[in-house]
Amino acid sequence: MSADTADSPLTAHSLAPAPVEVPTLPKYAIGVDVGGTGTKGGIVNLTKGKLSGDRFRIPTPRPATPDAVAAVIEEIVDELMSRPKAPSPEDLAVGVLFPGIVIDNVVHSAANIDHAWIGCNTEDLLSSLPGKLRVLNDADGAGLAEARYGAGAGASGTVLTITLGTGIGSALIHDGVLVPNSELGHLEFDGDIAEKKASAAARERADMSWEEYGALLGRYLKYVERLHSPSLFIIGGGISKRSQEFLPYVKGLRADVVPAALVNNAGIVGAALFAAEQKALAER
Ligand code: BGC
Repeated sequence: MSADTADSPLTAHSLAPAPVEVPTLPKYAIGVDVGGTGTKGGIVNLTKGKLSGDRFRIPTPRPATPDAVAAVIEEIVDELMSRPKAPSPEDLAVGVLFPGIVIDNVVHSAANIDHAWIGCNTEDLLSSLPGKLRVLNDADGAGLAEARYGAGAGASGTVLTITLGTGIGSALIHDGVLVPNSELGHLEFDGDIAEKKASAAARERADMSWEEYGALLGRYLKYVERLHSPSLFIIGGGISKRSQEFLPYVKGLRADVVPAALVNNAGIVGAALFAAEQKALAER
């Protein structure tokens, strides 16, 4: 190595990725998933990546305005905190999933929920909740849970979870680290926003057979593969329970394509995990 490069601050060594620190987590945290029809919460055992006890669900109010949804989230957290296994309020981390872009607990998009959420500071909105709050994108929560405890556990490289529901959500994770708000359902695809063409709701609207849907989804995933080169796609959302009907028609990808393993509770588990990790990292 010449003296020049040795003195330069940009040596190959200084460009190596920073090591990822995995904080020590508490055993339990709370996760809440705000969905189109139901808002569900649970106490999550972070050692197992599973719910401890039943989940508690309340129908999502309509219209799903911030104040109305906040009242439901508060009721759910109250109920969970009254249980014997509830974490103590000092140790508590509460993760809440939201179906839009969330940066530093502020909502920046609301494609499939009341537009009054845009610009909402959820820390102010949910200031009466106990514990340390983190709000994150719904697909990011589900993807994080799948990558750590579910279909992507142990996978290295880029793992992309794609959730298929009313919209399309995405979680981009590299070697276990989440790059939040990837929003790959909003790529342009077949002349429209991808989720308008390839979500589970779009399949129903267009009355597509499973074979047609699998072929369409395959084309969308190939497009995403060209952009992000994942080693693994995890397909989530309620429709993933029927993955044997359409995944056989998803062909020609370099990446493996597998159904989600945690399905119903992935969001709640991922929200709790994210909140507990962020709390632990902030308290180092
Ligand atoms: C939103 C995403 C969300 C996805 C699934 C999309 O319309 O833009 O943020 O993750 O729907 O709910």
